Amino acid sequence: AKIVVLNGPNLNLLGSREPGVYGSKSLADIEVDLRNRAGGRVELEFRQSNHEGDLVTYVQEAGLAGSGVILNAGAYTHTSIAIADAIKASKAVVVEVHLSNVHARESFRHHSYLSPVCKGVIAGFGDNSYHLALEALLTG
Ligand code: DQA
Repeated sequence: AKIVVLNGPNLNLLGSREPGVYGSKSLADIEVDLRNRAGGRVELEFRQSNHEGDLVTYVQEAGLAGSGVILNAGAYTHTSIAIADAIKASKAVVVEVHLSNVHARESFRHHSYLSPVCKGVIAGFGDNSYHLALEALLTG
């Protein structure tokens, strides 16, 4: 089975976007590093969109394909009932990830619509959050 790495709005700007919060690696750098980490263990597919509906579609497709999902939904984490419903409706096992420790930041980042329908949550470890999510899916 495959693992799909889904990134939401503004994550295409990683590297230049608030590097003090999100780190200096670009999303392309994170992809290279995660592919190295995965080695031959699993096939990875990366998708990014700034549009909520695209993320709904990607979750649906991952579910139909029987893929695991590493999901950083960005700000939609805190707003999107639609993405939560898509996860709930799909058979995909989803790990919610965040680069930053959302609980140490503004209170509007403390609530996630996605956490209750995900297998688990990893936040605050920078790009290592993706690596930890990969290990969680591979060993869980
Ligand atoms: C984020 C945290 C969100 O609150 C924020 O809107 C993002 C990135 C993170 O990876 O730390 O876009 O998901």
